[in-house]
This record gives sequence, structure tokens and C-alpha cells, in this order.
Amino acid sequence: MTEPQPPQTQQQPPTGDAEGLRASSSNGAAPLVPPASGQQSQSRVSAQAMPRDYQYYREVFRGQQMPFAYLDLDLLEENIRLTRDRAGGKRIRIASKSLRSVAIIKHILAAESTFQGIMAFTAREAAYLARQGLDDLLIGYPTWHEEDIATVARATAEGAHITLMVDSLAHVERIETIARRYGVRLPLCLDIDMSVDFPGLHFGVWRSPLRTVEQVRPVIARIMSSPHVWLDGIMGYEAQIAGVGDRYPRQVLKNALVTWLKRRSLREIAARRSALVALIREYAPQVRFVNGGGTGSVHTTRLEDCVSEITVGSAFYGPALFDHYRDFRYQPAAGFAIEIVRRPHPQIYTCLGGGYVASGAAGRDKLPQPYLPEGAQLITTEGAGEVQTPIRYSGSIALSLGDPIFLRHAKAGELCERFTHLLLVRNGTVVDSVTTYRGDGQCFL
Ligand SMILES: Cc1ncc(COP(=O)(O)O)c(C=O)c1O
Repeated sequence: MTEPQPPQTQQQPPTGDAEGLRASSSNGAAPLVPPASGQQSQSRVSAQAMPRDYQYYREVFRGQQMPFAYLDLDLLEENIRLTRDRAGGKRIRIASKSLRSVAIIKHILAAESTFQGIMAFTAREAAYLARQGLDDLLIGYPTWHEEDIATVARATAEGAHITLMVDSLAHVERIETIARRYGVRLPLCLDIDMSVDFPGLHFGVWRSPLRTVEQVRPVIARIMSSPHVWLDGIMGYEAQIAGVGDRYPRQVLKNALVTWLKRRSLREIAARRSALVALIREYAPQVRFVNGGGTGSVHTTRLEDCVSEITVGSAFYGPALFDHYRDFRYQPAAGFAIEIVRRPHPQIYTCLGGGYVASGAAGRDKLPQPYLPEGAQLITTEGAGEVQTPIRYSGSIALSLGDPIFLRHAKAGELCERFTHLLLVRNGTVVDSVTTYRGDGQCFL
């Protein structure tokens, strides 16, 4: 596959990166270009009347080569505010997998003091982020390969704070062996299972085997007795609340069932988490954090006293899957554009590219969602194609060859695996362009 190239038209603003962004904040993170005085006059679209409609974005991006991905900073800021408010005073750890751009991660960390620390997704990514000046990196998933653990050990020796995830004696013993070899003491986080079983249904994800006091006790005892590791935190991710929508159109029964299952499992999650945290604190009273939740569960995770921080990532880009939750609505801040290159039927506009399908159980909800013009649809028999995507549209806007169709990825950070840059929009203007991990030449998962 040909990697989409950064747009290089005349309107292309200077490429920003972690270093190149203007102004820096007290925690070292760099806010993206602030609304500059006089910027209004450069805008091709009035900042007053700003409906995020097709005409708005078509005008904003006129002349850009497609496909491109973008981030609407005005909407990102609304998502940042909403996340802060929903958290009700709990700290927020940023899920880097759902952002995959160092500049954007730094921007969000700088925006609010509520945002502290990062949940990384691999050891190599965590070491990469440490080299970019980011700190308090929790790897959200276990690390097994010797060289990956060694990467964390070396980064630790150089002063990085990277916490490894464990859920078994095997994990602890392997990390211990490598920590001993490097002469470091590595911080660990214990992952406890938050799934709930109903008759005939495992409601949650298959991750940690640690559910009961009996299962946790030997692992925690082993950590506490080791001179090469120490317990930094506890994590329990209630994926069945955080990652399962309960307001899908035309799915009344399923929505009602999921809502009921969520309500039932919340009680068990809270009881199990507080019992396990209490046990672990008997062994390790100084444990630094108790992490829980995700974008879809902020409002319930925050109610648990024993939780000190909530992980959030997807909320910031506001991808399509998060349109289907009863209790909140984020702004569609990130999207991408594909170019109409042919018109095989008066109401079908075939575009170049577009097949950026999300991970997870395969289904229509993992396809990118046509966003603008309103009423644009994928065609069931073709979906989003490897090189061409036909879009059905019969609305009132006149579309021509060369016009964009705007889509949203079903998930958040995976969008950035398809693009080297994100064009940043503010007040009707493309104000900057920042690299994604791919644009930095990085590919972790
Ligand atoms: C361990 C863990 N915590 C939190 C999250 C929540 O991430 P997001 O806010 O992007 O949904 C995830 C998502 O998969 C996760 O795996």
C-alpha cells in the first residue's frame, strides 16, 4: 500500500512537531498554535458562523491534496473540557494508543492539570515517548520479549519512569530476571480483571486472570519480596462499560439489554475493585495510583473512591463508535478526506482510498463513517475500499470531481496509522500540521 503523503499544496502550513510548536507550558508540554491575534483576517471562513458542515470543511481544506487526516482544534478543546468535567476531580491518564501523535499528546497534557501521565501500549512506544520528554508512562498491557523489557530497564537506568503491567507470577519473575541483569528496580502495575460473568455470557474482555483475593495474594506477595521490582499501581479496566455502546440506532432490544448488563456489572466491578485494592494496600500501602475506566465509563469510574485516576484517549478525537453511548456525546474532532475521482451513476461518487477499517470484532460499525456531506453513505456491497470507495449521495449539495468526502474513523488512534500528518484546523483555517507516529517513522502496533 502506498502511504498517504503529507499534503504539499500552497495552503500547507509549516509542519509542527514536538519541538516546533509555539509556546510551552509549565509541565514542559507544548500547546498547539493558540488562536493568534489577527488570525481571523487570514481565515477563509468566518469564525462567527461556524457550523461544522460540508461547506465549512470544503472551504477550509480547499486545494489540499487528498487523502488527508485532520483534527479540528476547536472541537478538540470542547472534548478536553467535557472530559475534565466528566471526571469530577479524578486525575486523567492519557491513552496514547487513541492519539498516536506526540504533539497532540503534549497539547492535551498541557491543557489541564487534571491530565497527568500516559498509558502507553508497548514497551518500545513508552521508551520512544520518554525520549520525547514525556514522563509517568504506564504500559497498559504485559511485556514479554526480553529485548522489550530490556528497553524499559535501560530507559529506567537513564531516569525514565516506565511502569510495566503484570498479572501473573510468570510476568513478575521474567521482569525480575532482566531488572537484576541491568541493576535496576522496575515499577510494576497489577492488572485485575473487571469482567463479569452472567449465565452464558462473559461480559467484558479476556485479559487478566486475577479476579479474587486468593488469586492476587501470591502475585502481590512475590512483588513485595523482590529487590528488583516494586508495586507502583493497580489497574482494572471495565471494558464492558467503557467500550460498549448502548445507544445504537434501530437496535432497541440490544440497547436495553446492554444497559441492563452494564447496570448489573457496575455493582460487581465496584465491590471487586475495592476488595482487591484493600488487600493490595495491606501489602503495599504506598501504592501510587489505582487506575480504571476509559472514555465510555468516566462518569461511573469516577464514583469509586478507591480509584485515583481514569484512563481516557478516544474522547479527544471523538471517533464514530463513541456516538453510540447513552450518557455522553463527544465532538467529532478528527476525520479524514478522500477525493471524488469518478461518478459512475448520478448519485454515486467514487473516491480514491478510504478503506481504513477499525480493529475488533468485524462488523459494519468498524467501517469508517461518511460524515459530510450529511446523508453520504457507504454502499453495502463494497464498504470502504482498498483503493476506491463509492459513496452514495443524493442531497442538495453539488459535488464535483476533485471535491472531498469527509469520513470519521470508527476508532480513534488507528486513524493515525494511515496518515503521516494531521492537519490542524482552528477558526476556519488550517493553522498547522503535526506528525503522527507514522510520520515520525514509528510503527508500534
Ligand atoms: C487498559 C485500557 N484502559 C483504558 C482504555 C480506554 O481507552 P479509550 O479512552 O481510548 O477508550 C483502554 C482501551 O482499550 C484500555 O485497553
